[in-house]
Amino acid sequence: MKILVTYFTQTGNTEKVARAIYGAIGGKKEILPVTDVKDPGGYDIIFCGFPVHAHSVPLSVENFIKQIPPGKKIALFTTHGSLRGGELATTAIEHAVSLASQLKVLGTFGCRGKVDPKVVEALLKKPEHRAWAETAKSAVSHPDESDLEDARHFAKKVSMMLT
Ligand SMILES: Cc1cc2nc3c(=O)[nH]c(=O)nc-3n(C[C@H](O)[C@H](O)[C@H](O)COP(=O)(O)O)c2cc1C
Repeated sequence: MKILVTYFTQTGNTEKVARAIYGAIGGKKEILPVTDVKDPGGYDIIFCGFPVHAHSVPLSVENFIKQIPPGKKIALFTTHGSLRGGELATTAIEHAVSLASQLKVLGTFGCRGKVDPKVVEALLKKPEHRAWAETAKSAVSHPDESDLEDARHFAKKVSMMLT
């Protein structure tokens, strides 16, 4: 069983969650940024993580998911500034799941991730971002230990589906 944990990150939040997932799984495993993955077909399961950008999936992750051979098992995780379980974050996860429609999605996980206050200020001025940017300030302490513990639990649950 060969497991890949891969992620895209700009400010480190998603990488933190990726490392918690990586630490929680056993067996033969690798952790790499999405842009460094050479052969996605060479793994039995891929945990793929991304920050929500503009209610959606960053292009590098979209391209990565599209490269994965059909039928491969995948688990998706995300960090986002908006509220956990809220509609905005859910929309992005649903989009990622639809990109993976040729794959076997074993699970999804999302938690909040702090947003640079300067970015929040700039985004509040843009109508298309105001909805989530207004709540983003309260993400300042995330991902926290409780988020990372949830991520570990998610990783173990997905791993158990493989045995
Ligand atoms: C350009 C940009 C767009 C973003 N768009 C959203 C969004 O639409 N919804 C949301 O909840 N968070 C949004 N965020 C916040 C990030 O998803 C959040 O801070 C995430 O944890 C960053 O992860 P990273 O540190 O791995 O890059 C955005 C952040 C940036 C920089």
